Amino acid sequence: MKKLALGLTALALFVSAPALSKPKKGKKGAEETPAAEAPAEAATPAEPATPAEPAEPAKQFTAEEDVDPALMAAISYRHAQMKLAGGHMKSIKLVVKGHEAGKDEVLAHATALASIAQGIGNHWPAGSGHETGIEDMSAKAEVWTDAEGFAAAIAQFQEATAALKTAAEGGDMAAVGEALGAVGQSCGDCHDKFSD
Ligand code: HEC
Repeated sequence: MKKLALGLTALALFVSAPALSKPKKGKKGAEETPAAEAPAEAATPAEPATPAEPAEPAKQFTAEEDVDPALMAAISYRHAQMKLAGGHMKSIKLVVKGHEAGKDEVLAHATALASIAQGIGNHWPAGSGHETGIEDMSAKAEVWTDAEGFAAAIAQFQEATAALKTAAEGGDMAAVGEALGAVGQSCGDCHDKFSD
């Protein structure tokens, strides 16, 4: 995200550069250029843009290859689980909202979510937070300093996903939708406290 924002800033600087450094007209005695000509002139690629002021010095991140492989595997694993959880939730939500063709898969998604919740607490070894120095890191120090609070957030996630699974077994999509809301709440409650 930060990379993208920097990239966009650089792009904006580049795009606006020709307009900022309109070349002076050299014609002597010529009348003023008619306004209509100006855009064509301005569109001529100017000299490479020299950004007026460099954006704040780019933050140096540690390359993922330079992190202890066991720590990196845990980080990548939990990231993958989080993304999977989001995908399963989205699939269930689409069915709840009317995509009937997915109805037979709702229980599988709910089961997968409950399984992710059971294991999610196993992938946070000490030293796998911001101290790794990698860019793709959002885990706050509180994951480790408030281990009790983090365990409570995991328990909430486990309860909500177990209830979702029960609702999916029942097959009533209104109940599934309600249980899904509670799962979403459990994601959000944990992120509020433990993720940047
Ligand atoms: C117990 C706490 C907790 C719960 C519950 C939780 N998350 Fe997360 N999530 C985190 C933390 C902490 C991070 C940052 C992890 C990191 O950067 O290493 C994170 C990161 C993520 C990411 C970014 C992954 C990446 O590749 O950077 C996504 C997406 C995500 N969570 C989605 C979800 C969804 C969807 C749910 C619910 C189904 C959920 N999370 C439940 C704590 C939680």
